[in-house]
Amino acid sequence: MKVLITGTNGLLGQKLVKLYETNEGVDVIATARGANRNPFGSYTYEQMDVTVASEVVKIISKHQPDVVINTAAMTHVDQCEQDPDTCQKLNVDAVRNLIESCQETNSFVVHLSTDFIFDGEDGPYVEDDLPNPLSKYAESKLESEQLLASSGLKHAIVRTMLVYGIVHDMSRSNIILWVKKSLEKKQLIKVVNDQWRTPTLAEDLAKGCALIAEKRAEGVWHISGKDLLTPYDIAIATAEYFDLDKSLIEKADGSIFTQPAKRPAKTGFILDKARRELGFEPVSFKEGLAILKSQLENA
Ligand SMILES: NC(=O)c1ccc[n+]([C@@H]2O[C@H](COP(=O)([O-])OP(=O)(O)OC[C@H]3O[C@@H](n4cnc5c(N)ncnc54)[C@H](OP(=O)(O)O)[C@@H]3O)[C@@H](O)[C@H]2O)c1
Repeated sequence: MKVLITGTNGLLGQKLVKLYETNEGVDVIATARGANRNPFGSYTYEQMDVTVASEVVKIISKHQPDVVINTAAMTHVDQCEQDPDTCQKLNVDAVRNLIESCQETNSFVVHLSTDFIFDGEDGPYVEDDLPNPLSKYAESKLESEQLLASSGLKHAIVRTMLVYGIVHDMSRSNIILWVKKSLEKKQLIKVVNDQWRTPTLAEDLAKGCALIAEKRAEGVWHISGKDLLTPYDIAIATAEYFDLDKSLIEKADGSIFTQPAKRPAKTGFILDKARRELGFEPVSFKEGLAILKSQLENA
C-alpha cells in the first residue's frame, strides 16, 4: 500500500511516519511545506504546500497513492479567528485541492477534523451527533468535512481532540508540555476547570488513522483518549506524574480568559464505534503520561 501523508512536520504527521517505519507493507510519501524537519524514519520526502493546487496535482499524480492522509491544517484556534482568510485557505481550499487530485488517482482520503465542530452543550459525543461550530476554526473544519462528503470520493473523517505528545522541532506546544515547562520554571498557572475533553496521545491518533487507512474504513470516526478530564485535572495529573509543585496550579473559570475564539464547554468522545468496528483501544491518560515521560527522557 502506498500512503501519502500531508503536513509531516507536524505532531500527527511525524507520528504516522514513525508508525509506518516498522510496516514493510507500506510505502510512505511524506509531504510538508518547506524543508523536511523530521529526521527519523524511512520514507520518500516531497515538498508540498497543500494550498498550492499545482504542487498538489504534481505530487499526487506522480506517486498515485492508494491512500492520502491529510494532517496539514491551520490548527491554532485563536489564529484562525484573527486571520479567517488564511484559515479558509488552509483548512477548506486546500482540502478542495486534495479532493480534485485524489479524484484523478482514485485515492482513499483520510481527513482530520475536530471535537470543536460541536458546541459543547451535550458532550461526550458520538459520530452522528449534530455539529454546531462556535469558532472560525471549527466552521472551517466542518466545511472541509462537508466538501469530502459531497466529493464522491471514498473517504474517512477522523475527528480528534486535545492531542498531546512530543516530536522533533515542533511548530506548536500542547497542554502537558506547557504545564511541565511552566511548573519547572516555578510559574503560577491558571487552568480551566469548567471544560471537559478526552485528551489523545498522538501515538493513539496515528494508530487510529492507520487502522482506518488499512481497512479503507469509510465514514466518520471519533478517535481520542478514553478519560474525560478538565484541563485542570490534566495539569494536576501532569504535576503529580512529573513530581512538580501542584500548588502552582490555580483553578480557573473559562470566562476569565479573553481568547479570540470561543471554546466548547464539554466535548469528549464516545469511542464505541471505533472500538467495535476498528478494534481501536487507546491508552489511559496515566499510561499516556508514562509514554511521554519515557520519550522525553530519551529525546
Ligand atoms: N492537536 C490537536 O489538539 C488537534 C485537535 C483536534 C484536531 N486536530 C487536527 O489534527 C490534525 C493534525 O494536527 P497536529 O496536532 O498534527 O497539528 P500540527 O502539529 O500543528 O501540524 C499541522 C502541520 O500542518 C502543516 N501545514 C500548515 N500549513 C501547511 C501547508 N500549507 N502545506 C502543508 N503543510 C502545512 C504545519 O506545518 P508547519 O510545521 O510548517 O507549521 C504543521 O506541521 C489537524 O488537521 C488538526 O486540525 C488536532
